[in-house]
Amino acid sequence: MGLESNSMPKIVIGDFGYTLEDVPHLSDFIPDLPTYPNPLQDNPAYSAVRQYFVDYDDTIAQNIVVHKDTPRGIHFRRAGPRQRVYFESDDVHACIVTCGGLCPGLNTVIREIVCSLNYMYGVKSVLGIHGGYKGFYSKNTISLTPKSVNDIHKRGGTILGTSRGGYETKKIVDSIQDRGINQVYIIGGDGTQKGAAVIFEEIKKRGLKVAVVGIPKTIDNDIPVIDKSFGFDTAVEEAERAINAAHVEATSFENGIGLVKLMGRYSGFIAMYATIASRDVDCCLIPESPFYLEGRGGLFEYIEKRLKEFGHMVIVIAEGAGQEMLSESLNQKDASGNKLLQDVGLWISQKIKDHFSKERKMTINLKYIDPTYMIRAIPSSASDNVYCTLLAQSAVHGAMAGYTGFTVGPVNGRYAYIPFHRINERQNKVVITDRMWARLLSSTSQPSFLSTKDVVEDSMDDKKETPNYALLENGFADAHK
Ligand code: F6P
Repeated sequence: MGLESNSMPKIVIGDFGYTLEDVPHLSDFIPDLPTYPNPLQDNPAYSAVRQYFVDYDDTIAQNIVVHKDTPRGIHFRRAGPRQRVYFESDDVHACIVTCGGLCPGLNTVIREIVCSLNYMYGVKSVLGIHGGYKGFYSKNTISLTPKSVNDIHKRGGTILGTSRGGYETKKIVDSIQDRGINQVYIIGGDGTQKGAAVIFEEIKKRGLKVAVVGIPKTIDNDIPVIDKSFGFDTAVEEAERAINAAHVEATSFENGIGLVKLMGRYSGFIAMYATIASRDVDCCLIPESPFYLEGRGGLFEYIEKRLKEFGHMVIVIAEGAGQEMLSESLNQKDASGNKLLQDVGLWISQKIKDHFSKERKMTINLKYIDPTYMIRAIPSSASDNVYCTLLAQSAVHGAMAGYTGFTVGPVNGRYAYIPFHRINERQNKVVITDRMWARLLSSTSQPSFLSTKDVVEDSMDDKKETPNYALLENGFADAHK
């Protein structure tokens, strides 16, 4: 689908190594835009809030661990309401689209965009685009009002429907233009945000007064820069239920092994956090940490040791782990361009069973639990609901203030407007040479499956992957230390 966005980053350099990675603004490419007082100033709910409006110069630091002499580093524009807005309420025609896989909290974000636009800015015209990107040109739209979205946060999934792929920039922007839409809220993962960046470019090329706002979504929590993606905590919480069941099964049978497969195509955050939270897991296998089965230091040796010591064990495996060992790699991609994976849970279950029955002549009782879709199809937890609300409100404030071509998200606990290219340049991964993974290893006692050589190579790879401004950042990795 050719999702290359080519806008130059908007960088502002200040004193003492301060760098602002700013986001585009409608006034960058449309001259003489009128502004209006923010209607929030007359809103009784906010009248008592001192300093309700965000100062134009407020920015959020990406790296908050600093030394006396370190430069101030990269900053992002702080999210929130501005004193002047670039749209009059009656002139706003907004739309919302959800793309990619499901994630707890999608409906909450939809609800809160609709309610924030309506209650805070008096916007009445909000369209839901049905069925992902292709819905712009091939499906119906639905009108969204505070009344119609009132209860949707209690449901899993997305009331708008979703899809992977189906992306055609020109058709999408034609549809935006034809429908007179001037604020586009795009909720989706990395592929979707890349699409949003290209839509923004096309809109800019056509000189349209349309704000394009991305709201990052991935249950795998692999979006860089932001602290965490919405729905992740809910997913970890739900994964605990599967792990509990695996533990109960494992402890009830002789040499019981409970095996749970969790989502995580390229990164094992759900598996790692669920493992650390649970304390019942004896071994966690993730894509970032290659492992091996046979021989000294291998998985089979560890399982046998654990069964001899405790009589049972629980293994958590992320779906992308160990794929290199599965004999036939699928070599196919889904409509979002993600590699299709073999079922590593079934594969490893069989391998463990074969090893212990045939090679070791040991009776084991292995129970395999695959809660994959149950974990992401549920409604979001209370804390994710609050998170989704802040995301949606931040997104709306940004669009009303004329910002465009940005993604919204928390950076060190504060909500910020982040340029698309920063979100799209790489995927976050569990760093197995960081402290969080060490915490996991010390809680499970599993082998690290690493040689000293691997550790050295891993840290060299980290250096290679570090983007521009390398010396100034490491924000995300630090947040997980
Ligand atoms: O990308 C997020 C994710 O949840 C992955 O962990 C998982 O592999 C994928 O979506 C599965 O989604 P679907 O089966 O809908 O393509």
